[in-house]
Amino acid sequence: MKALVLAGGAGTRLRPITYTSAKQLVPVANKPILFYGLEQIRDAGINDVAIVVGDTHAEIEAAVGDGSALGIDVTYVHQDQPLGLAHALLAAESALGGDDVVMFLGDNLIEGGIDEVVRRFVAERPAAQLLLKQVEDPSRFGVAVLDGDGTVERLVEKPSEPPSDLALVGVYLFTPAIFDAARAIKPSWRGELEITDAIQRLVDDGRRVTASTVDGWWLDTGKKDDLLEANRTVLAGIDRRIDGEVDASSAVVGNVVLEVGASLINTSVRGPAVIGANTVLEDVHVGPFSSIAADCRLTRCELEYSVVMERCDIRDVPRLEGSLLGREVSVSRTERRPAAHRLLLGDHSQVEIAGGS
Ligand code: G1P
Repeated sequence: MKALVLAGGAGTRLRPITYTSAKQLVPVANKPILFYGLEQIRDAGINDVAIVVGDTHAEIEAAVGDGSALGIDVTYVHQDQPLGLAHALLAAESALGGDDVVMFLGDNLIEGGIDEVVRRFVAERPAAQLLLKQVEDPSRFGVAVLDGDGTVERLVEKPSEPPSDLALVGVYLFTPAIFDAARAIKPSWRGELEITDAIQRLVDDGRRVTASTVDGWWLDTGKKDDLLEANRTVLAGIDRRIDGEVDASSAVVGNVVLEVGASLINTSVRGPAVIGANTVLEDVHVGPFSSIAADCRLTRCELEYSVVMERCDIRDVPRLEGSLLGREVSVSRTERRPAAHRLLLGDHSQVEIAGGS
């Protein structure tokens, strides 16, 4: 059994972050989303991992390398254009060498790992085995209809009138039968070869397609609010570890990770929160569900329910909440006249200025 991790795609819903960063490398609790999936693959006993990369290949390759730091053996497959999940799978056909495969979408996070579903697949070996999760908004996803004994009867991609509330989670297990099915389908209305259509093809050909339901959380990190929610969910499960410096006038409450070289000066941190290496917080309050990456400097400000990436500088800002800041972002208050907000924002940036004062 091999793993195929899809880490291409444009990440348009996470712009402007994704103009300069692959969406799979955006951090959740200070760890790239992609690494959670790679670790779960490793923990399921799978070492051979092919990663499909697109335009952001250099960044993904720099972060993951040959996989040895994660205990896996990684090869890269280049997908020249983002033409859909089934297209990515076909691009990886020779790299997979005729083995069964677990395909994992690099921007999906699931609780509790995949070892049980891999074990079930190996024991039963249907043509395909899917993971499903009951959701409130199925029209955002692929949707499955099951028959009485849990076999998949029908699949539809992003239906306007969903036939069920069972969304397809981005983890699929396949025998090589999926390749002929993927070759047999046509691009969808959005111009992509949909994996959902390829699996439907297996069903239409009379092949057995089974499904398991995910009991824990499942997070698709495609948009800012989803990402903040993923960050909240992952932080809710962390343990306290203080390896940085906390001065006598600072307080750290609850499950907080303070990495080596990080320093709190007259600062309170209320967990769950993670603060990266060499980040300095002075006269700051950090509220729950915040991830601040390495080498940041925050001075005289409050922050809660936010993700701040490396080397940001935030000064004299009364309160930031529900925010996602890319690398080397600077946010500060000025006494310059005329009093005004002065912004330098990339394309597709979003700013909400608090009303009232
Ligand atoms: C893809 C699949 C969809 C699945 C989703 C899970 O959607 O096409 O069936 O439910 O991943 O994240 P996409 O991310 O391409 O919109």
